[in-house]
Amino acid sequence: MTQMTSKLHIVILAAGIGKRMKSSLPKVLHELAGRPMLAHVLESARALQPDRVCVVIGHGGEQIMERFSTSDLIWIKQEPQLGTGHALLQALPELDEEGTTLVLYGDVPLVQPETLSRLVQTDLEEKCAILTTKLENPYGYGRIIRDKDTQAITCIVEQKDANEMQRAVNEINTGIMHIPNRKLHAWLPILKNDNAQKEYYLTDLIKMAVAENIPIVSAQPHHNWEILGVNSRAQMADLERIYQKESASRLLEDGVTLYDPSRIDIRGRLECGSDVEIDVNCLFEGHVKLGNSVKIKANCILSNVSVSDGTIIHPFSHIENSEIGKNCRIGPYSRIRPNTNLNDNVHIGNFVEVKQSAIAAGSKVNHLSYIGDTVMGKNVNIGAGTITCNYDGAHKHQTIIEDNVFIGSDTQLVAPVKISQGTTIGAGSTITKDTPENELTLSRVRQVTLTGWKRPSKHK
Ligand code: UD1
Ligand code: MG
Repeated sequence: MTQMTSKLHIVILAAGIGKRMKSSLPKVLHELAGRPMLAHVLESARALQPDRVCVVIGHGGEQIMERFSTSDLIWIKQEPQLGTGHALLQALPELDEEGTTLVLYGDVPLVQPETLSRLVQTDLEEKCAILTTKLENPYGYGRIIRDKDTQAITCIVEQKDANEMQRAVNEINTGIMHIPNRKLHAWLPILKNDNAQKEYYLTDLIKMAVAENIPIVSAQPHHNWEILGVNSRAQMADLERIYQKESASRLLEDGVTLYDPSRIDIRGRLECGSDVEIDVNCLFEGHVKLGNSVKIKANCILSNVSVSDGTIIHPFSHIENSEIGKNCRIGPYSRIRPNTNLNDNVHIGNFVEVKQSAIAAGSKVNHLSYIGDTVMGKNVNIGAGTITCNYDGAHKHQTIIEDNVFIGSDTQLVAPVKISQGTTIGAGSTITKDTPENELTLSRVRQVTLTGWKRPSKHK
């Protein structure tokens, strides 16, 4: 994304305790849109193609490292936590003398790569860059103090250290800054904690830069929500809504119909073809791909699913880790479990559960059935209430149903079993043996009538 001539390091500060979350889970592992906050920050960080990403951890560090175990990150312990400057000092041994470092916060998850890229692009040789913004209510943030005449930044004053005039300033420090490594090596070890909180403030670097006549430039995010931090569950919930609103806006821009943009949740990536329609209260998890003219009716949940052109998913359907072909009709109230592959024009109706099965084109399972571990051919019709008995109490077994089979209602297919092509099964059968092609097979006791039989009546 960015063309950097020198090395870019990124340090993410994530050692804070997060007391106000009232949780045993470290703050940065709390999930926003289905992923830990830290994962969002990492995604934005990686978009800049940095040479190195360090994460400073403290509270719950083990848990955090475990959660991100597969990654290329450098973990740095900060113990005890003596402030943001102290946190970055712990990372100093990992920062080359050459190049620059971008500081991010693990609990500021919505910052956009585009914003970071603008901050990082400022030619840094002898400059520091900070991300600032103006807030209607700047309470709690460090204030950006500028020279009255030149408007040059002179320092950052923390809320607790600010006098009345400084508190009236509404330009705030987002905490995100970009600094030459050479300067970090010079300044971080000499930071002092003579302030209201007895902490080593990262923001004091700005004073040091000014003392050395090093220019300080600022950049601003496009949206103020990018710099919002999470300290409580309420703020977490606010950020979740912001994230969802933004995702919905992007879908609308891309030509997707959302019946109500405030009633859709995307926890992952949703890719849509043209003329897709999504009704209210649908949840998309993981990677979901919807083809052209797909319609998702109200209250559906789709996790890691691909749905091809023209298919309609009727209300209250739940589909996981499956592929759905073209022009299928699913639901209402269908449950499609992992590793299911439905070919084109398949119909799955109400109260039907399908698990780990492949169903070929044009087949229908319309009512109240369980199809598990099954390979089903083309143009099969499965009658209401049909069950594949795939489990013998110890093992799962496969059911094979070939093309053009017709299965009467309320049939049990005891696996392993093969229903050969063209078979018809009479309703109410329990099928335990393979069937011959193109014949009617049924297993049923013969219907009898006991004439003159009376229903029992209650004794007086
Ligand atoms: C900091 C800034 C303030 C800015 C605000 C923006 C300083 C001194 N102040 O204040 O100017 O307006 O952020 O939100 O930098 N952390 C550690 N180790 C520590 C302390 C903090 O890793 O010892 C991490 C936290 O986990 C968090 C981030 O650093 O991710 C910021 O810490 P926080 O305590 O929220 O700083 P603020 O006091 O809000
Ligand atoms: Mg804070």
